Amino acid sequence: MAHLRSLILLLSISLWPLSGLSQFFDSEDGSSSKILIKGGTVVNADHQEVADVYVEDGIIVAVRPNIKVADDVTVLDATGKLVMPGGIDPHTHLAMEFMGTETIDNFFSGQAAALAGGTTMHIDFVIPVNGSLSKGYEAYVEKAKLSCMDYGFHMAITKWDDVVPKEMEIMVEKGINSFKFFLAYKGSLMISDELLLEGLKKCKSLGALAMVHAENGDAVFEGQKRMIELGITGPEGHALSRPPVLEGEATARAIRLAAFVNAPLYIVHVMSSDAMEEISRAQKSGQNVIGEPVVSGLVLDDSVLWDPDFITAAKFVMSPPIRAKGHGKVLQAALSTGILKLVGTDHCTFNSAQKSLGIDDFRKIPNGVNGIEERMHLVWDTMVESGQISATDYVRVTSTECAKLFNIYPRKGAIRAGSDADIIIFNPNSTFHISAHSHHSRSDTNVYEGRSGKGKVEVTIAGGRIVWENEELNVVPGSGKYISMPPFNYLYHGINKADEKYLTSLKAPVNRIKQSL
Ligand code: URP
Ligand code: ZN
Ligand code: ZN
Repeated sequence: MAHLRSLILLLSISLWPLSGLSQFFDSEDGSSSKILIKGGTVVNADHQEVADVYVEDGIIVAVRPNIKVADDVTVLDATGKLVMPGGIDPHTHLAMEFMGTETIDNFFSGQAAALAGGTTMHIDFVIPVNGSLSKGYEAYVEKAKLSCMDYGFHMAITKWDDVVPKEMEIMVEKGINSFKFFLAYKGSLMISDELLLEGLKKCKSLGALAMVHAENGDAVFEGQKRMIELGITGPEGHALSRPPVLEGEATARAIRLAAFVNAPLYIVHVMSSDAMEEISRAQKSGQNVIGEPVVSGLVLDDSVLWDPDFITAAKFVMSPPIRAKGHGKVLQAALSTGILKLVGTDHCTFNSAQKSLGIDDFRKIPNGVNGIEERMHLVWDTMVESGQISATDYVRVTSTECAKLFNIYPRKGAIRAGSDADIIIFNPNSTFHISAHSHHSRSDTNVYEGRSGKGKVEVTIAGGRIVWENEELNVVPGSGKYISMPPFNYLYHGINKADEKYLTSLKAPVNRIKQSL
């Protein structure tokens, strides 16, 4: 044990600013194999009831009123509080090499921040190395060795040749059931429509979910040139160079190409009403399109990009950009009516020094904002406290829908016997405060600086361990597990029948009698 402690200490010193260290070590190793959560309101996506929750060895064993336990069980009183599945963040970038630098949060600091905010699992995007999926995968397996909570992987596809589709098959065997295609970032991650079509077909044959970053990269490139020619080099140029119409166009294009091959589609970080409208239209026509808003798009507006202080403005630079006032409200409404299905963060943090890479040219500001720690609080405050969604809907959009889409439900995303013990105790009558001075990300800034609101994650249990209690983290690098995610999620049910119907509808080839002329 002493040996393990010194190892953790060594690791953490190299990973963490000293001020945060005390939060990671208390008298015990934090493992509490038997826990009883007493008297809370257990909220699942479909139902809520007052019940006790009994956990043993990382698994929920029972959910019912009045569970009696022996003395060796840690009892947590949840009277007057909500007991909910830990959040699952479908969209993060930890230890990502991007735009000439690497995100400041790695798999330890990013996950520790997540746990302090009630998120107990995330799905991170593996970026191929020179187009190689297997090399990218190996690199991320290494990065993820620091994990202190459960995680899964999506895989980006950045080129196409004979090897890539074969590697996609191997990735699915390794438990990756989703592939992301970037229609933006010309010259680095961006792919062509031809590649997207190949990718969509391959995803469909594998039962994997195709995900798209929807912005027209060629037009963005043109917009950037225009801004520079106009002498606009600051962060506002970022928003001006890639307006909502370019997000709407790419969203519509991806949706139509997915319809053309009858493949389900997931649009990541929906930031504008333009993109949301395209998703809604496709859904009304019966197409399986999932839209993922991110917290920044729901609660922020682009006025901050015009701040006279460069760092204050640059910290909000992400793609697609945070939009003008009005878009956020529209996205909230779409989330409340089910057009948008689940909330991610796109947590991709860079500190002030890194953001300063673009001091003379907004095109060089590393794109990305924080959110992994703030998501659960901000979604509650913005959506539930305002009366737009119920507590059960909150569980659905922050946890259950993600578990279902990535095919790990009910292991994740539910408080029920047999599920993993990833649980939060949430006090709806308490308040949260956000500041870079108190957050757990390694970034020196926070795009939600100074915000407070109603509701507070008081306890986080991950894999049956109490990892966040009394404002203290108790996390161990290496304790998080890789979650393998099988293909053929619910969007694939019935897809063969639709394909058969399509083939019959062709009434072709026509059997013609060949006559000699
Ligand atoms: O600005 C962003 N979104 N950075 C992360 C990369 C991506 O496009 O998701
Ligand atoms: Zn993206
Ligand atoms: Zn992203």
